[in-house]
Amino acid sequence: MPILLKAADIIAKYSPELIKESNFLASDGLTPYLEVVLVGNNPASESYVAHKEKFCHKIGAKFKLTRLKEDVGEKEFIDCIKGMNENPEVTGCFVQLPVPNQLRHLNITQLINPTKDVDGFHLKTVTDIYQGNLTGILPCTPKGIITLLRENSINPAGKDIVIIGRSYIVGKPLALILEAMNGTVTICHSKTKDLAKHTKNADIIISAAGMPNLITKQHLRSQPDQVLIDVGMNKVNGKLVGDISFEDVHDHVKAITPVPGGVGPMTVYSLMQNLLTTTKNIIKQRKV
Ligand code: GUN
Repeated sequence: MPILLKAADIIAKYSPELIKESNFLASDGLTPYLEVVLVGNNPASESYVAHKEKFCHKIGAKFKLTRLKEDVGEKEFIDCIKGMNENPEVTGCFVQLPVPNQLRHLNITQLINPTKDVDGFHLKTVTDIYQGNLTGILPCTPKGIITLLRENSINPAGKDIVIIGRSYIVGKPLALILEAMNGTVTICHSKTKDLAKHTKNADIIISAAGMPNLITKQHLRSQPDQVLIDVGMNKVNGKLVGDISFEDVHDHVKAITPVPGGVGPMTVYSLMQNLLTTTKNIIKQRKV
């Protein structure tokens, strides 16, 4: 059996620290407070936001969900973002993506106050990562994956790592982070000619393509020494599945993340860490 890279143990281990830190910040004058804007009612987004709210309550942070109608106009949407950017009580905020078509031309990540950028998508945040500085806010899914690897003593340094997917939410920032950690990173995507050629050569395979059953035994080498990280969150016949065909590969790998219970909860945990960081930064700014 492979090692199962589960989120639950890590979250149980570190949650008391998050709760303590959140209480400390509240006693220092600023309670961590996350505001989320959700446009419309995409079922996947509703579910992600519900998990974020639950974790906020668990650590003693405040949470506000601002709902906008599916057909909201540009002005109302931008005014709403301005409102949370400027609210002195709110210490972290983001717009749950994706947004409906009429808003897609907007550069939403740049509209968010960078001081409150718990998503880690603002260019100010991304520039640090681009320059190899990993000490600030990191985007939540990549950060969660790094924590999963570290907690399981899997060091990316010197490893051949294949990332499938090139989104600015996962693939791109993750590639920069793993490269800064001395991994040798290859990004594959929908136009990659021979995916199996790349994945067979990898020590660590990270799939963030959003395609059920994309990775099967045929994509692996014969020695069961590869680590597989599944970022996929796909609904198939009402069931949540990843990009990796777990049943097909699990006897042929060294370690693998389950879906659900792997990268998804680690993403929410990382968001809470980022919220505590932005809150601390705001307190520091107010003290000078
Ligand atoms: N939609 C899917 N993942 C994310 C995320 O990490 N942040 C935001 N804002 N929207 C998402």
